[in-house]
Amino acid sequence: MRDLDENSITTEALSRVSAAPDPRMRQISEALIRHLHTFIREIEPTQAEWEAGIGFLTRVGQMCNANRQEFILLSDALGVSMLVDAINHRMPEGATETTVFGPFFVQARKSFPLGANIAEDLEGTPMLVTGTVSSTSGAPLTEADIDVWHSDDEGYYDVQQGDELAMRGHFRADDEGRFHFWSVRPRYYPIPDDGPVGDMLKAQGRHPFRPEHVHFMVAAAGHETLVTHVFAEGDPYLDSDVVFGVKNSLVTRFVEHEAGTAADGRIMNRNYVHLHYDFVLKARPPSAQARSNR
Ligand code: BEZ
Ligand code: FE
Repeated sequence: MRDLDENSITTEALSRVSAAPDPRMRQISEALIRHLHTFIREIEPTQAEWEAGIGFLTRVGQMCNANRQEFILLSDALGVSMLVDAINHRMPEGATETTVFGPFFVQARKSFPLGANIAEDLEGTPMLVTGTVSSTSGAPLTEADIDVWHSDDEGYYDVQQGDELAMRGHFRADDEGRFHFWSVRPRYYPIPDDGPVGDMLKAQGRHPFRPEHVHFMVAAAGHETLVTHVFAEGDPYLDSDVVFGVKNSLVTRFVEHEAGTAADGRIMNRNYVHLHYDFVLKARPPSAQARSNR
């Protein structure tokens, strides 16, 4: 086909992918072309604007390395990550809701006994975290694996400060599906905004902040692994989280306590906060369980 114009080019581009051997690839390629062409027709970019767009995507790619994934950050900041998360985690009534994974999880996790302090000697307000893990069937999930990670009281993760890991760890729920540990209270913080995604936020008149939260990944046999956060009630950024991750059911009070005996029996000689959350994991249907056991 020759002499394509601004109308006929879309039909021709679609016909070029119509023979893709994989039907899913064909569907995705066709939707990509249709939506991209509609987008371009709507905004009618100048040549300079097209070049600026290409330059932006190039900078996003150049910013990526083993420790920095600017494309995922872009997806987060445009609401795409949470849209994908919502589509893939349509939860039954009663199951804990999911939210974005974020870039600060570390695979090489350290396991701690229940009651441990994962902040060691870091400064900040002591924080007691208690919780339970149960199934949508109602049963407590004994031996559930609980991974946690969060920022310090100035909003920085350990991996942003150096090689020392802190404020992260793995726990195993007890024989009633309960867990508890100590750390320091985190704070709201900006996502990494020293790259092209930060430039985009500025150009869009947006702030880069996420509200105060603690990340949890909870796994148990026969259940879907839950990736979520618990957010602090009253945080100024709950309604404008830069990555659109806040759900009402995940917001809870970080209750302030005066010095005294804490819920786990520890005697505190200074004020602390206590956060409690009951996690409910979605049971996998028996057919999926049979497949995953194979
Ligand atoms: C986080 O909560 O750690 C996070 C999530 C998305 C983008 C940046 C940070
Ligand atoms: Fe975070």
